[in-house]
Order: sequence, then C-alpha cells, then structure tokens
Amino acid sequence: MMLAGKIAFVTGGTGGIGTAICERFEAEGATVIAADLADKGGAERFHHFDVTDEAGIIATFDQLANEHERLDILVNAAGIEIEETIENTTLEQWNRIFAINVTGMFLTSKYALPLLRKSSGASVINFGSYDGYIADPGLAAYCATKGAVHALTRAMACDHGPEGIRVNAICPGYVDTPMLQSFFEGEGSGGDGGTIETLQQAVRDVHPMRTYGTPQDIANLVNWLASDEARYAAGQLWVIDGGLSAQVQQMKL
Ligand SMILES: NC(=O)c1ccc[n+]([C@@H]2O[C@H](COP(=O)([O-])OP(=O)(O)OC[C@H]3O[C@@H](n4cnc5c(N)ncnc54)[C@H](O)[C@@H]3O)[C@@H](O)[C@H]2O)c1
Repeated sequence: MMLAGKIAFVTGGTGGIGTAICERFEAEGATVIAADLADKGGAERFHHFDVTDEAGIIATFDQLANEHERLDILVNAAGIEIEETIENTTLEQWNRIFAINVTGMFLTSKYALPLLRKSSGASVINFGSYDGYIADPGLAAYCATKGAVHALTRAMACDHGPEGIRVNAICPGYVDTPMLQSFFEGEGSGGDGGTIETLQQAVRDVHPMRTYGTPQDIANLVNWLASDEARYAAGQLWVIDGGLSAQVQQMKL
C-alpha cells in the first residue's frame, strides 16, 4: 500500500474527482478526511468544510491537531466553474469564483501548514487545470483562477520545500464529473442545435486519445504525487488531458 499510515485532507472531497481521490487514498491505507460543503454520500470520512470560511478553517485544523497531531497530505480540489466571457461575468461572480478557487486554497493551505510541518514528508496537491495554460472559450474567470493556482503552487513549493513539504498542481483536461456534465448542459457548450451526446462525442474526438478522462485517471496521478515515491517531485504543474493540449487544432481542408 502506497499511503499506509498517512493522514490526508481533501477539499472538494465529495465532488467527482475528490471522491475518487478519497477512495484511492483509503485503498492505499491512508486515513482520509473528505472536506466539502456537501455531504453527498454519507461517508464516514465526510467533514463539513467551507473553503471561504476562515474561522471554520481554523477550527477544523485545531480539531485535526487534537485528533491526529500531523497532516501528511493536503489536496486542494474544491472548485467551481462559471461559463461566461468577461463581458457577461458580474463582479459578484468574479469575486465568488476567486474566493473559492484561489482564496480558498490560500486559506486552507495557510492553516494546514503547521500540521503539514509535523509530517516526515508532506505533499500538497493543488487543482489547477489545462485552462490555466490554454483557454476554453467562454470560461474567462475560471481560466484566470487556474492561472493563479499555477503561480501559487510554484510559490508555495519554493517557500515550503526547505521544510520538507512538496507542493505540486494537477492540471486536468476534460474529466467526466458533475462539473463536466454541467458544462455540457450549459449555454456556451453546444449552441449548434446538437444533442448532449453529439457534443460529448465531438469532445472525445478532439482528443489524441479519443476520450476524456475519468476521476480515477486523475486519482492515479494524485496518489503517486501524495506518496513517498514522488519524493523528488515538487513545484510542477502536471497536465493530464489525454494529449489535448499537445496538439494544434486540425484544419478540415
Ligand atoms: N472535471 C473537469 O473536467 C476538471 C478539469 C480541470 C480541473 N478540474 C478541477 O478539479 C477540481 C475538482 O473538480 P470536479 O470535476 O470534481 O468538480 P465537482 O463539481 O464534482 O467537485 C467540486 C467540489 O467542490 C466543492 N465545493 C465548492 N465550493 C466549495 C466551498 N466553498 N467549500 C468547500 N467545498 C466546495 C463542491 O461541493 C464539490 O463537491 C476543481 O478544482 C476543478 O476546477 C476539473
């Protein structure tokens, strides 16, 4: 087992990707806290947690310090998406997505650090996106938050590497979760009169691997980054997207 005896805290832990991570971590022998706003499965590992609530975050890590004394793995996976251009994004929406995707990561990491320092080799995994590298049309604020996550990841890795804390970001492409399904159902995604099925097929076809990812595909990489096998992996942005961002768009001549 790759994570035997480790203690892991996963924000967004009841989401599509978060659930797969928690299940994989447990299968690898970790004790897991699935920290999320929503208790979707009634799992014992669930802990109610709002990444925008500073007092609640402090209270959670105080409680964790009493129960576990240290933290080995922090996964910052809580996130939301807003499907709009900047012109159609309200200031309230802009502030909300930054509060969750960026400030939430800052606050959670800030208050987790004292416990992470007590680990004999801690790993922090932030959720960026291939949208932090290249842009999907109609996702302006989301792309901006993920670019910020990538920069924050590098900065955290530099600051806390000397303390034995590795920090990396995972940058998924299309992964089959409720977030992706709401993108398929959303306004900006179709617009050509096609069905969700034709849209899903079109998205698969544009990938070199001719498919989009599963939450388990992402959990496999997260699991490795969380483990001691990845002891020399720090400060990097790990793109996992079926090759999507490697190719230029094909012209139909
Ligand atoms: N699904 C994809 O295609 C994809 C692609 C690239 C990046 N990502 C990123 O991966 C991460 C996980 O996404 P997912 O696809 O599992 O989405 P998801 O919507 O299934 O899960 C996100 C989770 O975050 C939680 N959350 C939202 N606001 C919160 C808050 N204030 N406090 C605590 N939890 C909160 C939600 O309740 C939800 O469980 C996100 O950061 C997302 O941006 C996803």
